[in-house]
Amino acid sequence: MANWSVTQPHFLLPVPLGALQIPEAQTASKNTSTSLIRLSLVIPTYNEGENIEYIIQLLSLLLDAVLPNAYELIVVDDDSPDLTWKVALSLVSKYPQLRVMRRVEERGLSTAVIRGWQVARGEVLGVIDGDLQHPPELLLQLWGKMQRGADLAVASRHVENGGVSDWSIVRRFLSRGAQLIGLMVLPGVVGRVSDPMSGYFLVRHDCLAGKMLNPLGYKILIEVLGRGNISWIAEVGYVFQERQEGMSKVTWKQYVEYLRHLLKLRLSLWPVGRFIRFGAVGLSGVFVHMAVFYLLRSELEWGLTRSAVIAAEVAIINNFLWNDRWTFGDISSQQKGWSKRFKRLLKFNIICLAGLVLNVTILNLLFNLLGINEYIANLIAIATVTFWNFWINLKLSWRVTEVK
Ligand code: GDD
Ligand code: MN
Repeated sequence: MANWSVTQPHFLLPVPLGALQIPEAQTASKNTSTSLIRLSLVIPTYNEGENIEYIIQLLSLLLDAVLPNAYELIVVDDDSPDLTWKVALSLVSKYPQLRVMRRVEERGLSTAVIRGWQVARGEVLGVIDGDLQHPPELLLQLWGKMQRGADLAVASRHVENGGVSDWSIVRRFLSRGAQLIGLMVLPGVVGRVSDPMSGYFLVRHDCLAGKMLNPLGYKILIEVLGRGNISWIAEVGYVFQERQEGMSKVTWKQYVEYLRHLLKLRLSLWPVGRFIRFGAVGLSGVFVHMAVFYLLRSELEWGLTRSAVIAAEVAIINNFLWNDRWTFGDISSQQKGWSKRFKRLLKFNIICLAGLVLNVTILNLLFNLLGINEYIANLIAIATVTFWNFWINLKLSWRVTEVK
């Protein structure tokens, strides 16, 4: 677990250093505070001196009613020039559930939230902006969803009762455009919620316990969706309010960071181990293909096409059997029975045959249209089809059907 810096005055929370790993949720016995903390709500702030008192007041009023002494508000301020952390610290005596962290060496919305979650004691972790653009009262509905068993409850601008107040066409376009790019790069992550850009949500601590998070910029929800053990997601519509005080810190930099974050998450979620196994099986298929082709041609003196087709089919069955037992063994072992296995073989066969067509098409395009050397063109075609075969088979043939 992170080692603590000790220079801060005793009311400021020590800033965790090191990896952005979420610790295990505190159980009742380990929970040092007098009563069990149910909700830890992090408020990341940068130059929110004009907003911080009002949002602390509103949140405390709301939560004192539903979770008396069982919640904590954690302000994580990145050493704001307007001394937001100092204003927040001066409120601690009035709001006993309030804890304040001042980060000096680090900067950034998402990492600020994670540092707050690293010191959180609640069984539910949350985040809300510090500028009142996220309506605090919605918290009760989000909490209600968590009470009913949701792993993640997201405030969304894109469901019923959702929306943004008077956003310019440009900002709407940028926000939706960013979402679209996210859907293309990480459909299985970004596509799980209607508002993946939302900065307002609650998540079960256990779903993130032990996870190493590694966000960039603003989009902490995408990191939670990509790396957390999240099954049940609930959404509540809200209207994103206009800012009353202070300025948004969003610049083009955040958009660049978002794209880098998407790519980083994409690469880290790419099932490298499984892909290497798939590649090894593919390689074994080449040997089987060549051996059978040799046997049929030289020993049995069968025709070229007939030998090639039989050899290809034997290689496909070889690859299927190894992939079903080894590459995707963890998935196929959950889908027992011959009929299911035969269905997977059929899908695998069709996808590999489609891959063959794709291979020949790419080869011809590169060789005949672009004039690329035939061997390089063939290598590019094989590499492309390997990715195709792997990804489509992962999504279709060995699709995880039973959701836990
Ligand atoms: N600690 C810390 N460090 N806090 C930050 C930083 C930072 O570097 N940058 C911004 N914040 C705080 C702000 O003080 C505010 O409380 C909150 O993060 C959101 O920042 P804004 O700059 O107001 O963002 P926005 O309103 O344009 O966008 C917000 O809403 C969108 C819609 O939900 C963000 O939450 C976006 O992530 C979200 O997509
Ligand atoms: Mn804002």
